[in-house]
Amino acid sequence: MTTATQDRVFIFDTTLRDGEQSPGATMTHEEKLEIASLLDEMGVDIIEAGFPIASEGDFAAVSEISKRAKNSTICGLARANFKDIDRCWEAVKHASSPRIHTFIGTSPLHRAIPNLDMDQMAERIHDTVTHARNLCDNVQWSPMDATRTEHDYLCRVVEIAIKAGATTINIPDTVGYTAPRESADLIRMLLERVPGADTIIFATHCHNDLGMATANALAAVEAGARQIECTINGLGERAGNTALEEVVMAMKVRNDIMPYRTGIDTTKIMNLSRRVASVSGFPVQFNKAIVGKNAFLHESGIHQDGVLKNVETFEIMRPEDIGLVQKNIAMGKHSGRAALRAKLKELGVDLADNQLNDVFVRFKALADRKKEVYDDDLVALVADEQTNDAHEYLQLKKLRVICGTEGPQEADMVLSVDGVDHHIDATGDGPVDAAFNCVKMLFPHKARLEIYQVHAVTQGTDAQATVSVRLQEDGRIVTGASADTDTIVASTRAYINALNKLIVRRQKTAPGNDVKTVSYHGE
Ligand code: KIV
Ligand code: ZN
Repeated sequence: MTTATQDRVFIFDTTLRDGEQSPGATMTHEEKLEIASLLDEMGVDIIEAGFPIASEGDFAAVSEISKRAKNSTICGLARANFKDIDRCWEAVKHASSPRIHTFIGTSPLHRAIPNLDMDQMAERIHDTVTHARNLCDNVQWSPMDATRTEHDYLCRVVEIAIKAGATTINIPDTVGYTAPRESADLIRMLLERVPGADTIIFATHCHNDLGMATANALAAVEAGARQIECTINGLGERAGNTALEEVVMAMKVRNDIMPYRTGIDTTKIMNLSRRVASVSGFPVQFNKAIVGKNAFLHESGIHQDGVLKNVETFEIMRPEDIGLVQKNIAMGKHSGRAALRAKLKELGVDLADNQLNDVFVRFKALADRKKEVYDDDLVALVADEQTNDAHEYLQLKKLRVICGTEGPQEADMVLSVDGVDHHIDATGDGPVDAAFNCVKMLFPHKARLEIYQVHAVTQGTDAQATVSVRLQEDGRIVTGASADTDTIVASTRAYINALNKLIVRRQKTAPGNDVKTVSYHGE
């Protein structure tokens, strides 16, 4: 179990639980395992891997992540009832360091929903934390909507949870309502008033509805919290959660005024950010702190001049600190496998030999089509290779489109369906529509297209396009992605990738079953 030293702040990543709860951010089982392993390698202290009772998929992911984790504590979420807690324990018990996280809404608004009065809720907290502690010696308890809970009642229930055996008390700002001074005062008040508060770790869990999640989390740390709950890229419901990269880099860059340590290897941040953006289908905004595309770009003449003379004039941290390599060793069609491996390593991507072979073949093909292969091209190519598996049910074999000012646009396609090639052509309102119509004719379905996004990976008209497609069918939401120098090919492959994910979902669950429809107040 993790224990506190004065300046050590534990990083609790909830990308796979609170982050994945964001509508549309659903990840596949394999994607969850990959993200968990990257978080583990990066030095995250606690990974909240899911909400085991919420779906079979969550249970399977939490169990598997628990079995595979090398360093991190693995945590699962459970509501305040024995059934949730037992299910959570069944999933996390495989970890060498397991944790049960149980919670209940304690503010007046949240107490009203299960219709419990203050005393009944206090008793429920005592019973459920005791039950969790009988199963696992590492128990975290959260009073959901703590920042809107009456202070006297908050102190009372926190004391009950500590006495019942909770080892971490998390203080959630569930609706992103608090502000930095209040966030700090709340932790200070709990430390001063609650007997036994000095024997446990206080955590801060902030949402970003007012854009203050990072500031609120850091203020809580200054007041004595020693665990920050956060997600990669700030992924999460509504405006998201505290962004891991922001709090970690803030404490590193301003260690003079925030003298705290984390166990995070910050050079792994950029790769994780890219992978989470790719698998969740939530791109990072260009001007996002730390990991945005523009975070280290200096466009204006004055800035460029200053940076060239002395980088510190306009840069407070080095791109290398977050794993953003800007050496840009030119990669082209004459580069060999060893150079590609070295380059990917620089970019924070470590591939097994067989994966490297596949990526190398695609890199050569790309280098034939594109004059310069930039770092971002390679990152997009690897992401595409990891997303689009050659053994999928649907595979694009060939595509030609006719487009231009005279419609209708036409697509001619060979699509492999369960190993058998089919040839079809279709028209549409634009080339993408025509290509998607071909797929629909060969694989009829009623999934609705919710999002279709295209981004250029680099500058230049020969740039690769990354496309993400979100589909929804009977409550199941899937996101597909792909990259190619041909935007129509990338679009079609992203669409097919989403459909392949949907096919897997259909096999695993009845309609709506893998959607986390469990209510936070239900049983
Ligand atoms: O925001 C919140 O209150 C939560 C709890 C379940 C901890 O995510
Ligand atoms: Zn939350």
